[in-house]
Amino acid sequence: MTSELSVDDSTLVLGIETSCDETAAALVMGGLDVVSSVVSTQIELHADFGGVVPEIASRAHLEVLNPVVARAIVESGVEAERIDAVACTVGPGLIGALLVGVSAAKSLALAWDVPFIGVNHMEAHLYSSFLEDPSLEFPLLVMLVSGGHTMLIEMQDHGCYRLVGQTIDDAAGEAFDKVARFLDLGYPGGPAIDEAALRGDPEAIRFPRAMLNDGYNFSFSGLKTSVMNYVRKHPDVSSDDVAASFQAAVVDVLVTKARRAAAEIGATGIVLGGGVAANSLLREETLGACGEDGIQGFLPSRSMCTDNAAMIAAAGWHRLRSDGPTPLNVGAIPNLRLSFID
Ligand code: KG4
Ligand code: ZN
Repeated sequence: MTSELSVDDSTLVLGIETSCDETAAALVMGGLDVVSSVVSTQIELHADFGGVVPEIASRAHLEVLNPVVARAIVESGVEAERIDAVACTVGPGLIGALLVGVSAAKSLALAWDVPFIGVNHMEAHLYSSFLEDPSLEFPLLVMLVSGGHTMLIEMQDHGCYRLVGQTIDDAAGEAFDKVARFLDLGYPGGPAIDEAALRGDPEAIRFPRAMLNDGYNFSFSGLKTSVMNYVRKHPDVSSDDVAASFQAAVVDVLVTKARRAAAEIGATGIVLGGGVAANSLLREETLGACGEDGIQGFLPSRSMCTDNAAMIAAAGWHRLRSDGPTPLNVGAIPNLRLSFID
């Protein structure tokens, strides 16, 4: 019976992720051991449009979710009957895309008579680091930087978060995507700028570092406007130099604030999470800063930074242990937020 499940190191959770443009399924044991992880990306489907088209995303999830789940089970080498619970992103994300995963996860949980666990996608990004380094010790300063969020979070314990700072306008990933589109560098923008920046001079243009010495919040929309104004005034400027200088400005603000926050809360280390955590300069500068400050710098592997279902299964395992199964009347919640303590 589902209500009698004891959650321990052998509890096997199937994770499902369909909140945006990746369809993913993974099997994770004990919240730590990734037994299989399959990610099917829709990048090519959206590339011509320069961004994610919600309707196309939902249809693509519908087409590939069943095969992706089947592959995750086959690659794990375990029988489906061995699965103890099904975890799925319930938000935040695109409503149509979320609904595909949530409906599938609930159906599987019902069919197998196992618990359903609704997972907050942002909380799952926090857990991607624990999958690769379970020895991380609290309190931690987590920098969550994705296409929709930019947050500094004090993680005091499992499930216990305090919001230290966040963006007051564009998310860091959104700024990367918008600037890349403006420079015609391709889609998705973050990796395109990362690559162009390798060829450019980060000191070629001194773009503004908004709110650098002012609290822990961020603002990136002025930086984006400043890049556009500069390029309009200097049409012959090298795109590589603009990309490198823009990236340097974003990373400078992110790392300066994360470092200051980590010192203030006495964090044992800084952990990166979210798609922008795949950025080469951000990774290098974070490690450098942590080395200088004598704290741990933890960078999940690039495939673990971007959306995947292993992090959903891991976060689901922790939620199941702390809160038990999620009622089946909980649906997709597009604007779901993380719960913070004061
Ligand atoms: O976490 P994620 O996969 O999806 C969301 O939950 O938003 O993050 C996607 C974001 C996009 O804005 C993408 O451009 C950015 O992460 N990104 C990067 C890099 N790789 C992905 N940004 C900067 N440098 C990268 N290498
Ligand atoms: Zn994400």
